[in-house]
Amino acid sequence: MSTEKSFKKVTTKSLSLMKKKNIKIAALTAYDFITARILDTAGIDLLLVGDSLANVFQGNETTLPVTMDEMIYHTKAVTKGVNRAMVVVDMPFMSYQLSVKEGFKNAGRIMKETSAGAVKLEGGVRVAATIKEITNAGIPVMGHVGLTPQSINQFGSYRERGKSKEEAKEIFEDALAIEKAGAFAVVLEKIPAILANKITKALKIPTIGIGGGINCDGQILVTPDLLGLYVEFQPRFVRKYANLAEEIERSIHNYIDDVKNKNFPSKEESY
Ligand code: KIV
Repeated sequence: MSTEKSFKKVTTKSLSLMKKKNIKIAALTAYDFITARILDTAGIDLLLVGDSLANVFQGNETTLPVTMDEMIYHTKAVTKGVNRAMVVVDMPFMSYQLSVKEGFKNAGRIMKETSAGAVKLEGGVRVAATIKEITNAGIPVMGHVGLTPQSINQFGSYRERGKSKEEAKEIFEDALAIEKAGAFAVVLEKIPAILANKITKALKIPTIGIGGGINCDGQILVTPDLLGLYVEFQPRFVRKYANLAEEIERSIHNYIDDVKNKNFPSKEESY
């Protein structure tokens, strides 16, 4: 890896420039120090401490149970492993829905306690005032529209959003509202590629797709999905680049066999 790549920190400005220069943004989620360090060394542009940690780290069915304290705990570990990538933190369910003031206070707490570069919150028009207040305080905000998992109980399922004309219009307006409120980027989750393309063209800020098709300014995936570590749920938009669950299981079988058969430790591995 070149020295420049190692030390140049990704900022909201770099991401904006990448959109202007048509350089795609590669983003992933991270929840711990070791993974963050590997992903950062590999050259990832943006790391999201996603509230998906409620699913893939804590084993919950939805993202709703994860708390502010838990998001802060994981983000502190992630930021220690990162030199270059921009670290964005999901604001957990009910940390910003109650009021603009509550959202503002919690965003400030995340920034004060974690060394992250930005926060992310879900929703469009209805969170625009909160985004405005947070960005006015100098805290970069990333938006998230389309399928917003914190609203699962309202949606009733994790199906694709924006298929009907009315829903597509709503999502488009949500994206515009977020940009107007001062967000530096927006995640477009599980919406038709044609709608994601329309939003990407209409916005000056970068769009980061997850199930949003090829024309988004960047792409994000949940890292344990891409690595084949989390096999419980496999949306169509996931491309599996490895099968680590199988690889780990194979390694552990070998270890157990070695211990049981007295093949580990060897003389060289002993003192
Ligand atoms: O929590 C998360 O991992 C996310 C991504 C799916 C964008 O919000």
